[in-house]
Amino acid sequence: MAPNARSVLTALKRITPFTLETLATGHGPLLRFNIPEVTRRYDTWSQKQAQAEAAVVVFYVSDYGYSDRIAQAIAHGLTKGGVAVEMLDLRTADLLEVQETVQRVQGLVLCPPPTESTHSQAVLGSIFAAVQDKQRIGIFESYGNQESPSQILVNQLVDLGLTLAFPTLKVTQDPTPALYQTCEESGTDLAQVLMLKQTIQKSKAVAPDLDKAMGTLVGGLYIITARRGDIQTAMLASWVNQASFNPPGISIAVAKDRAIESLMHPGDSFVLNVLAEATYPPLMRHFLKRFKPGEDRFAGVKTYTATHGAPILADALAYLECRVVSRMETNDHWLVYGVVESGDVSDSEGLTAVHYRKVGNHY
Ligand SMILES: Cc1cc2nc3c(=O)[nH]c(=O)nc-3n(C[C@H](O)[C@H](O)[C@H](O)COP(=O)(O)O)c2cc1C
Repeated sequence: MAPNARSVLTALKRITPFTLETLATGHGPLLRFNIPEVTRRYDTWSQKQAQAEAAVVVFYVSDYGYSDRIAQAIAHGLTKGGVAVEMLDLRTADLLEVQETVQRVQGLVLCPPPTESTHSQAVLGSIFAAVQDKQRIGIFESYGNQESPSQILVNQLVDLGLTLAFPTLKVTQDPTPALYQTCEESGTDLAQVLMLKQTIQKSKAVAPDLDKAMGTLVGGLYIITARRGDIQTAMLASWVNQASFNPPGISIAVAKDRAIESLMHPGDSFVLNVLAEATYPPLMRHFLKRFKPGEDRFAGVKTYTATHGAPILADALAYLECRVVSRMETNDHWLVYGVVESGDVSDSEGLTAVHYRKVGNHY
C-alpha cells in the first residue's frame, strides 16, 4: 500500500473516533486482535512513506485499458527507490488537489487521458498549468477504446521544460509479467534520478576514519542471476557470505532499488555465479552497464540453464543454485538468506576474484 500512503493516513484519521472491533482489509484476512497495535504500525509506516525526501504523482485512468495496473507497477518501482508516491485518477481527481500536488512534487507520471472524458481533459489542463521546469516526467500509454496520443503529450511537456525520465511505455496488447517488470524498473530509474543528490550526501556523511575502517572489509565478486517465468535479470555483487553449514546457506545484501530485488522473495530461486580472478573483468564490465528498463542483461553472454531456470554463466569459476528462505530489512538493503540446493565448479582451476575497496561508502 506504499503508493497510497497519503490516502491511508486520511483514512486512519477518519476512523480515529470509532472503537474498532474488526479490521476488514480489502486484500487480506479479517483482523480481530491487536487492532490498536496494527493501526499504530500502519500509521507509522505510512507517515514514513509520505515524508520521503522526494515525491512523484502518478496519474492513471480507472477502467481504461490496463492503466491502473501499469500505474501501480511504476508506483511500486518508485517506492523501491525511496520516493513517496501519490496516485490520482484522471477521471475523478479534484482540480485544486491536482494543482497543489503537481506544484509540490519533483516528478510526474501520466498517461494521455481518454478523449471522451471531459473531466480528464480538465485535469490535464490543471497539470499543464501547474508543472514547473526541472520536474521529471514519465509517460505510459495504455490503449483503451482508441489510440492514445502519447507523443503529443511528451512534446507538450518537454516544451514546458520538463525532462523525460524513461522511454515511453507503450502497451498495445495484454500486459505480461515482463511488461510489469519493465514498468517497475522505469519507476525505479525515475526514483534514482530524483534521489541522486540525497544518495551522494548520505554517502559523504560517514566520518572519514569510520569510512576507511569499513573499507577494510572485503568480499568476492559474483554475478547473481534470477528468473521467474519470462523475466530474468542479473547483478554484480560483492556483499555475499556463507551464512550456514547445514543446510549450506548464503547471505546477500541486495539494495532495495535493484531490479533483481523483485525476484528474490522467499520461495524464489537464484544462482550465485562465482567470478574467477583471472577472467572476471569482461563479465564485471558487462553487468555494470546501465541497462534500460526491461533490457536483456544476458545479450552476448554465454549461459546455460540451472534446474530452477536461472542462467548459469558459462565463464564462472563455480555456481551455487539457491532458494530464498528469508529476508531481513536494513535501511537501504535487503539481507537475503538462501539455502544452497546444488552447485558445481568449472573445469578451469583458479582463485575467486576478490574485491578490495578504500572506503565503505561504495561497494
Ligand atoms: C564491485 C561491486 C560490487 C557490488 N556489490 C553489490 C551488492 O553486493 N549488492 C548490491 O545490491 N549491489 C551491488 N553492486 C551494485 C550493482 O552491481 C549494480 O549497481 C547493479 O547491477 C545495477 O543494477 P540495477 O539496474 O538493478 O540497479 C556492486 C557494484 C560493484 C561495482
